[in-house]
Amino acid sequence: DVPLRESADAKGKVIGTAAGGSHLTGARGEITGREFNWLTPENAMKWEAVEPSRGTYNWAEADRIVDFAQAHGQQVRGHTLVWHSQNPSWLTGGSFTPAELRTILQNHISTEMTRYKGKVAAWDVVNEAFNEDGTYRQSLWYTGLGTDYIADALTWARAADPAAKLYINDYNVEGVNAKSTALYNLVKSLKERGVPIDGVGLQAHLILGQVPSTLQQNIQRFADLGVDVAITELDIRMQLPATQAKLAQQAAEYKAVMNACLAVARCTGVTVWGFNDADSWVPDVFDGYGAATPYDENLAPKPAYYAIAESL
Ligand code: XIL
Repeated sequence: DVPLRESADAKGKVIGTAAGGSHLTGARGEITGREFNWLTPENAMKWEAVEPSRGTYNWAEADRIVDFAQAHGQQVRGHTLVWHSQNPSWLTGGSFTPAELRTILQNHISTEMTRYKGKVAAWDVVNEAFNEDGTYRQSLWYTGLGTDYIADALTWARAADPAAKLYINDYNVEGVNAKSTALYNLVKSLKERGVPIDGVGLQAHLILGQVPSTLQQNIQRFADLGVDVAITELDIRMQLPATQAKLAQQAAEYKAVMNACLAVARCTGVTVWGFNDADSWVPDVFDGYGAATPYDENLAPKPAYYAIAESL
């Protein structure tokens, strides 16, 4: 069989996976290196991972992932610089003035991006800024700094690594809905204001039977704003137990997502949020759900894997 990355390379498209340190060796490492042309550190670049206590940095796992990617001719998607979740307790539990918070955020962005300058091709600069109804999430950044935190973060990110592609990433923004329209309006206004923004990440944590019918249309409307679009965290979860019928439906839905992206020139490609069901975050977070990825718990390819292969 032809590895996914060979077909994706031929089309100039991303086929990526989220990865942790445990995906770089043994049977997992084989698949990570053979099948994918991009890696996203699943947790290793998050703030709580890289700066667990203030001023004390731990880059070990992130470095290993970046080194693996370089050794295997893969690109890296940096994930993520500005988020409400997985922040260190010194940050979330501290009481900082807005001016202090601004300095802390700028310093974080420039420290992390400078470390990986030239090695991380794209960054999820801002993650999950919106609520489902399209209002801004009341994160520590929004409550401390107002909506300007997004434009400021992007501006600081551009200064830190001018060659990196800068993205805003979110979930439940795959179809046309209130949340994706808020994101659309934000990107439009950032472009109009001259704030650096290169792309929009659609996470795509999807549920079997609920792939939005407006996915391609939504990708297209962002592309028409003059930004790239990436599917950044694809998985399609099902109620357990998995059956042959559900796995076949899942394969068809993976193919539909691939095809929606491949149909739009500015859609850079698709990253799956973990390639196998044993390591997927889904069963830990969505009670009763699982089997969301292209490989099963024994690292054997599922129908979804072959569907991705056929689409490429
Ligand atoms: C998840 C990881 O997969 C888990 O291992 C971790 O415990 C929590 O975070 N949206 C994102 C990702 O942007 O960073 C999240 O990753 C999944 C949802």
